[in-house]
Amino acid sequence: MKTFSVPTRVYSGDDSLKVLGRFRQRKIWIICDGFLATSPLLERLKQALPADNPLSLFSDITPDPTIATVVKGIEQMQALRPDVVIGFGGGSALDAAKAIVWFSRQQGIDIETCIAIPTTSGTGSEVTSAFVISDPSKGIKYPLFSDEIYPDIAILDPTLVATVPPAITANTGMDVLTHALEAYVSPRASDFTDALAEKAAQLVFRHLPTACRQGDCLITRGKMHNASTLAGIAFSQAGLGINHAIAHQLGGQFHIAHGLANALLLVPVIQYNAADNRARKRYARLAQVCGISPAQCDERQAVNQLIQRIEQLKNQCGLPRYLRDLKVGANQLEASIPAMIVAAQADATLKTTPRAATAADIREIIEALL
Ligand SMILES: NC(=O)c1ccc[n+]([C@@H]2O[C@H](COP(=O)([O-])OP(=O)(O)OC[C@H]3O[C@@H](n4cnc5c(N)ncnc54)[C@H](O)[C@@H]3O)[C@@H](O)[C@H]2O)c1
Ligand SMILES: [Zn+2]
Repeated sequence: MKTFSVPTRVYSGDDSLKVLGRFRQRKIWIICDGFLATSPLLERLKQALPADNPLSLFSDITPDPTIATVVKGIEQMQALRPDVVIGFGGGSALDAAKAIVWFSRQQGIDIETCIAIPTTSGTGSEVTSAFVISDPSKGIKYPLFSDEIYPDIAILDPTLVATVPPAITANTGMDVLTHALEAYVSPRASDFTDALAEKAAQLVFRHLPTACRQGDCLITRGKMHNASTLAGIAFSQAGLGINHAIAHQLGGQFHIAHGLANALLLVPVIQYNAADNRARKRYARLAQVCGISPAQCDERQAVNQLIQRIEQLKNQCGLPRYLRDLKVGANQLEASIPAMIVAAQADATLKTTPRAATAADIREIIEALL
């Protein structure tokens, strides 16, 4: 038996912050990073909240939130006891807020509502059952999945992403595409998740270059924001795979932005997975659904066309191609590979990868990035 449910209520559109008007006399705690804390976007959020709600702010979140930050957040939660927690920012702030709420609820603290308001279009964290926290001392990022992690409410306001610079737009957009692709080839994919992943991939191919070039186009930003959430729902149900399992290690070891790490890996991972008959069929199908390959195309040819289209998208968005472009040298990579292989094999996302991978396979995929 399979189940499909989206426990998070999603509000979207450039007037969607209005939904916050229903919260009255609630103790509200906003969790964000240092950038958002000083940005005019935070003022917009505060203005959307009725004045009779006492507000507090926790703005210690950094990219790839650490265990130490989450522990500090839980301590503050115990002192503050808010009714409503709002995660406001990119995936890092949303994940930190979800982690703090989840651990606090485990300790018996009653939080009425957890709200996620993304200001990047990438992780889909506003609708997922996951968060990722990092242990910088080990260079490892730990994804944790549980049905109790879903936020209660997600607010998708495209005006909040209009200021995202081109490089972050490109990185986060490639995260969306990776979520869609991994959910599509996952052994847990279903008609429900396929519909979401197909739409998300179509939207990324169509709109990501414009989002990078012309960030103030709200229609385009809205499409990418929706794509991110659609792909988030898809992978939250179908799971991810080896692309994320290795990307988490590139983030943990070299602090490469999550979406960029995924983008670097996409082509070698598709080439690896496509040796599996079912995965190859699925990639070919996605290439057809996205208008990249004609309907009667040979499967291998369709996979090649998908790869070429991804390379083209990366060029259009100005993404680097290799680790050396990010100043990660061969020796530095070589020294980290054994630890990365062990951690990738233990990563929760590997459970739903379509083609089993040995340590040697993982090494080969990583070495293709040099
Ligand atoms: N929970 C999940 O399901 C899930 C899925 C994928 C990734 N993740 C995690 O999410 C994190 C990555 O999130 P991300 O890619 O959104 O990056 P991020 O949250 O780290 O943000 C990247 C940068 O963008 C800036 N930024 C955010 N909003 C902005 C705006 N509106 N204008 C200008 N700058 C803005 C931030 O200040 C930061 O410097 C990683 O830790 C990753 O592991 C979680
Ligand atoms: Zn991701």
